[in-house]
Order: sequence, then structure tokens, then C-alpha cells
Amino acid sequence: MRAVRYHETGGPDVLQVDDVEPPEPGHGEVVVDVHAAGVNPVDTYFRTGEYPVPEFPWVPGSDLAGVVGAVGPDVDEFAVGDRVFGTGLGRTVSGTHAEQVTAPVDLLARLPDDASFLEGAAVALVGVTAWQALVGYADLEPAETCLVHGGSGGVGHVAVQLAEATGATVVTTASEQYHDHLRDLGADVVLDYRRDDLETAIVDAGRPDVVLDTFMNEYFPLDARVAAPGGRIVGIGNTADEARVPLGPAKSKDLRYQVMSMFNVEEYGPVLDRLGRLVVKGEVVPEVARTFPLEETADAHRTVLEESFLGKVVVEP
Ligand SMILES: NC(=O)c1ccc[n+]([C@@H]2O[C@H](COP(=O)([O-])OP(=O)(O)OC[C@H]3O[C@@H](n4cnc5c(N)ncnc54)[C@H](OP(=O)(O)O)[C@@H]3O)[C@@H](O)[C@H]2O)c1
Repeated sequence: MRAVRYHETGGPDVLQVDDVEPPEPGHGEVVVDVHAAGVNPVDTYFRTGEYPVPEFPWVPGSDLAGVVGAVGPDVDEFAVGDRVFGTGLGRTVSGTHAEQVTAPVDLLARLPDDASFLEGAAVALVGVTAWQALVGYADLEPAETCLVHGGSGGVGHVAVQLAEATGATVVTTASEQYHDHLRDLGADVVLDYRRDDLETAIVDAGRPDVVLDTFMNEYFPLDARVAAPGGRIVGIGNTADEARVPLGPAKSKDLRYQVMSMFNVEEYGPVLDRLGRLVVKGEVVPEVARTFPLEETADAHRTVLEESFLGKVVVEP
């Protein structure tokens, strides 16, 4: 079977398609015939060596959607033929950009019949991230105001929809060309993140009770200034190693800062189950901006880092 692998860290060109032995499921594992696999910025951090991987050659990719082709000993959660989707692979267990993948069952959930493989692969990592941030950590409640930085991104566009589904007022930032689309997805107010008066515009839209921050080093100070008293700020992304929290407004408003990694979520299954139900109900629409065949995974990595799009890039093995 074919798998994308890199034999050393480096740029996108280290990704190559290798013929490898088909995987065998071990205890607590299934083999999934992969129909679609999302591409996330984190895949590129592993590829460059910014984040470590256990061994080389290494298969990249955290998200998958497909059909169970074999089950390991003692597995009763899934049977051959089940449609599944999952995330959390590609860090300590081999990744998903391959025709077949061995996956621990606790990283998977059943993909509802009415959800497509593309939707399952697109929603998994970003959906679990947005869920953990807004529901798990921020306890976002109906009638609160939620600010999502970067609403057109993979995480951002799902976070906008999740926040809207909870009954919150949703304020988000994005490039101008995505504003109409984000309003269609449920955003109440969409602001260009490049505008000079961004801070004033956010306050005018309503001080957020919850902030999902995808650029912590850039926006932690702004978050503190705009947040409502008792605000919860959840940081997931950064472009530099350090972020400044202005202690005056943070202290005076009793703000709570939480920084998180999706890989630390304890149970993926229950969250994926709920995301699957929201997809079927049309409450969360995972937007797939572009798809790539397995042999063009390097281009998919370039697209994720260098191009602008709304939603997700997905590889179809
Ligand atoms: N901690 C975790 O568990 C976790 C999980 C998932 C992702 N992340 C991180 O979170 C970040 C976002 O992930 P993603 O998958 O959503 O990435 P993505 O799909 O590449 O989206 C990034 C979005 O940010 C927008 N953007 C660029 N500059 C911005 C700025 N200055 N202010 C506001 N928005 C801006 C981009 O819009 P334009 O294209 O229009 O510029 C794009 O839509 C990444 O750093 C990623 O590594 C962390």
C-alpha cells in the first residue's frame, strides 16, 4: 500500500510516496482504509522538526475518515465495514496520509451515514480543538459573546459555527473576501483583522465573554483590553514563542487565560460523536476548500502554510 513518508525533517519536498507493507492491527487497534485525511498546520511543524516525531521514516497526518478494514484482538468498539473518523494521530502513532492506517480505537468515532468522508476528515482535528476551547475550557453559555480570531481558518470556521450553535453572539475576524461566507455560517459580526481600529470595533460589537485566540503573541494584549469582566481567553496558536499578558486589565477584570493543545484532550470519541451529529444536522458545515491526491501532499502542505482559503485542505488517498 502507498503511504506518504519523510525520511528526514525539512521542507515540503521531503514528503514522498513509498510502497510499504500493509499494516496489521494490534491490541486495541483497527486498520482503517483511508478515504480522506485532513491537512493541518501542525503536520508542517512535525515535518520541519519544530515538533519531534518518534522515528524516521514517519507518516504525517492527524485526521482521517474511512472504513474499518480489519480489527485487532479485543476490539469490540468497531467492526469491519464501519465508517469512522478520527484525529490525534501523526504525533506518537503513525499518521494518516496513507491508503491504510493503524489507529487506536480511542482516537476514533463512528462517522454518521449522512456525513461524507471529506466532512469527517475536515472536521476532526479542528472540531475537537474548537470544542475543547469553547466548551471544555471556556464553558461558553447561550447569550454570551464569543470572539473568534481568524474565523476563516480551519479551527476558526468550525468555532464560529459551534459558538453560534450554543446560542452565543459571535464576533469574528477575517479577510474581507470571507465576510459574507462567515455570516452565512452564523457569525453576527465579521471584522477585517487588518483594520486599524480593530480594538474599538470589537468593543463596539460587544465585549467578549470568551475569546478563541489563534495568534496568542499578537492578540493576548488586545484580548485583555477588550474582554468583558470574568472573560475566558483560550489560546491555541502562536507565531512566536512568547506572548504578553497585560496584568492591569487582566487583574481588574478577573480574566482567565487557558493555553491548550488538542493532543492533550483525554477522550476524543465523545467529542467526535457530537461533532458528527452537528454535521448531520447542518449545524456545523466543515468547508473543504481544496483536495489533493496522496502524491501531491507536498503541495497540500504548501497550500496550508502559504495560501489563503476558507476552511480545510484535505488529501484523498
Ligand atoms: N493548540 C491546538 O491544539 C491547535 C489546534 C489546531 C490549530 N492550532 C493552531 O491554531 C492556528 C490556526 O489553525 P488553523 O488550522 O485554523 O489554521 P489555518 O486554517 O491556516 O487558518 C489560519 C487563519 O488565520 C487567518 N489569519 C492570518 N493572519 C491573521 C491575523 N493577524 N489575525 C487574524 N487572523 C489571521 C488566516 O486568514 P487569511 O488567509 O485571510 O490571512 C486564516 O484563515 C495555527 O497556528 C495552528 O497551528 C492549534
